[in-house]
Amino acid sequence: MRVLRVVEEADGITTLVFKDQICASARPGQFIMVYVPDLEEVPMSLSAIGPGALASITVKAVGETTRALSNLKPGSLIGIRGPFGRGFSIEGRRPLVVGGGVGLAPLMPLLEALVASGLRPKLIMGARTGSELPFLSRARGLLGPGQVRVATEDGSLGSRGLATDLAAEELAGGQYDVLYACGPEAMLARLLEIALEAGLRHVQMSLERLVKCGMGLCGHCSLGPFLVCRDGPVFDLAMLAHPAVRAELGRFWRDESGALVKLHRTRS
Ligand SMILES: Cc1cc2nc3c(=O)[nH]c(=O)nc-3n(C[C@H](O)[C@H](O)[C@H](O)COP(=O)(O)OP(=O)(O)OC[C@H]3O[C@@H](n4cnc5c(N)ncnc54)[C@H](O)[C@@H]3O)c2cc1C
Ligand code: FES
Repeated sequence: MRVLRVVEEADGITTLVFKDQICASARPGQFIMVYVPDLEEVPMSLSAIGPGALASITVKAVGETTRALSNLKPGSLIGIRGPFGRGFSIEGRRPLVVGGGVGLAPLMPLLEALVASGLRPKLIMGARTGSELPFLSRARGLLGPGQVRVATEDGSLGSRGLATDLAAEELAGGQYDVLYACGPEAMLARLLEIALEAGLRHVQMSLERLVKCGMGLCGHCSLGPFLVCRDGPVFDLAMLAHPAVRAELGRFWRDESGALVKLHRTRS
């Protein structure tokens, strides 16, 4: 695919727009494998699905391949496979959506789909600092400013604190029946606890593990009895509540050799 447009979304976070009919009809939450010539293939969520045949990915530069992706210019070529995995499904009538940093990427097309279905989601966006928060004006334009709350750890934008603090406040009111989330795994693990305490019956979270083949063949992305690339990346409440998933979520990750190691980073 040829990169058509490059947008600086926030510090270190860049969107690449390309044209592909198949990606443009993907389900929110699905991901593609993106090949950067001479480097690796990396999994990336679709951050825009349409209009027309347009689609995009939004990349946080964390290592060699994501840095190279972030430095591409319009006209550059990338390889793509997919879309893969199980995306979000629309359920419930009163959605709360919580995203941290570049974890907001798959939530943007989800929000568009929720609005297109006549629903009025509330969005909580979290980041370490205001300059690292992507998609704020897109979210406000879509939902209206009153439906978007922001938390930054340093208080430079919105309220000082964590997205999970705002989510706990919102869920305490009892006005939501479904929670959708994506972001750093520590945030997701805490959100799951809050959602279970609030008695929510519908929860969907997009998770990460080392994804290599992206299509259920190699086993690199296993999380409990599930493969993140095939059974996820969106996990529903039954999958999240599985004891093996709860034991790993926010704590452990499998390295390149498949060994269980202490979690040090997922997209944030
Ligand atoms: C389903 C899914 C969707 C994702 N969507 C996005 C997205 O929309 N935007 C975004 O910026 N990032 C996304 N990621 C994370 C992204 O794939 C990694 O940041 C990227 O692979 C890092 O590659 P690197 O070579 O730049 O860094 P490296 O130096 O190779 O790795 C840096 C860190 O990234 C993680 N990582 C490395 N390789 C992989 C891999 N193959 N799969 C998953 N994590 C890896 C590891 O924690 C590693 O320590 C997604 C991951 C998954 C599994
Ligand atoms: S990445 Fe190969 S099985 Fe999931």
